[in-house]
Amino acid sequence: MNKIILDTDPGIDDAMAIFTAMAHPKIDLLGLTTTFGNVSVEQATQNALTLVEMAGLDIPVAKGVETPWVKDLNPFPDFVHGADGFGNLNLAAPKTQPITASAAQFIVDQVNANPGEISLVAVGPLGNLAAALQIDPSISAKVKQVVLMGGVIAADGNVSPVAEANILSDPHAADRVMAAPWPVVIVGLDVTHQVVLNNALFAKIAKENAKVGQFMADASKFYIKFYSSIRDIDGCYAHDVSAVAYVVEPDIFGTIEGEVCVATEGVAIGQTIMSRFDIPYPLTFWSGRPKQKACMQVDSKRLIELFETSMTSDYWK
Ligand code: RIB
Ligand code: CA
Repeated sequence: MNKIILDTDPGIDDAMAIFTAMAHPKIDLLGLTTTFGNVSVEQATQNALTLVEMAGLDIPVAKGVETPWVKDLNPFPDFVHGADGFGNLNLAAPKTQPITASAAQFIVDQVNANPGEISLVAVGPLGNLAAALQIDPSISAKVKQVVLMGGVIAADGNVSPVAEANILSDPHAADRVMAAPWPVVIVGLDVTHQVVLNNALFAKIAKENAKVGQFMADASKFYIKFYSSIRDIDGCYAHDVSAVAYVVEPDIFGTIEGEVCVATEGVAIGQTIMSRFDIPYPLTFWSGRPKQKACMQVDSKRLIELFETSMTSDYWK
C-alpha cells in the first residue's frame, strides 16, 4: 500500500489525479494539501473540499501557500482551467472546511508520524514542500519519495520554450526541493506531452461512473478545448495523473538521473536543468546536490488504461 499526500492546485487535471488516487487499490490517500497555481489557494482549497465531498470521503484538506516564495504571483491561467478551476462549471460551495493546520505543517506532522512510508505527490507549484523543509529539514530523511508533476528536461516547455507551469510559478521553491537530500522523481512534460486523453474516454467515464464521472467529463471539455486549440492533439494531456501513476506503476516510465538546478531569473526562468552528461564542468552550481530522477519515456497506453480503470472501477459504485 502506498501512503501519499497529494499537494495540488485543482485544476482540472488535478481532479483527474485526485480521483485516481482515491480509487486506486494500491494508494492510501492521507490528505490533500493545496497551493496557488491554476487558481488562488482559496479557490484551490474550495475545489479540493468539493472533490472530497463529491467522492463521499472524509479526508483532511490543508490550505497552503498563497504566493510564490520570492517572485511575484503570475496571473492565474483561467484560459486553461477556467476562473473557478473546473472549466467555469461554477459548482455550489463545499459544506466542509479545511483543517486548521497549514499544508506545510500537515506534511511535517504526517511524515514524522509515518517515517519512511509517505510519498509526497506534488502536482502544483512547490511552495508547500519548500515550507515543510523550512519547518523541519529532517523530513527529507523520512519521506519515501517526492514525485512531482513539473519541469521539462529535454522536450518543449508549456509556459516558455524551456519552462513548465508548476516550476515557473515558484522557481525558488522548486530549486529548494531539487536541492534537498530526498529522492525526487520529476514527471515532466518530456512524458506528459506524450499522453493524450480524448473526449471519447471522458464520455465512457461519464457513463460508467455515476458519482464523479459527469463532473469529470464536463470539466474536461474546457481543458480539451484549450489544448486542442494550441496543440495538434484531439484531447488534453494527462499531466497530474502521470505523477500518481508513477507511484503505483513506476515501470510505465523510463528514467534518467542527475543533479537538478532550477533557473530562478532571466530568460530561462523556471527551467529545470539536469546535469546528465558525465562531463567535469567548471561551473559548479550542480555539485553537492543529490542526483534526482526524471521520467523521459512513458508507456502511454498503460497510463491511459490505469486512469480509465481507476475512473470506472467499482470503487465509485
Ligand atoms: O504544466 C502542467 C501543470 O500545471 C499541471 O499540474 C496543471 O494542473 C498545472 O498545475
Ligand atoms: Ca496541477
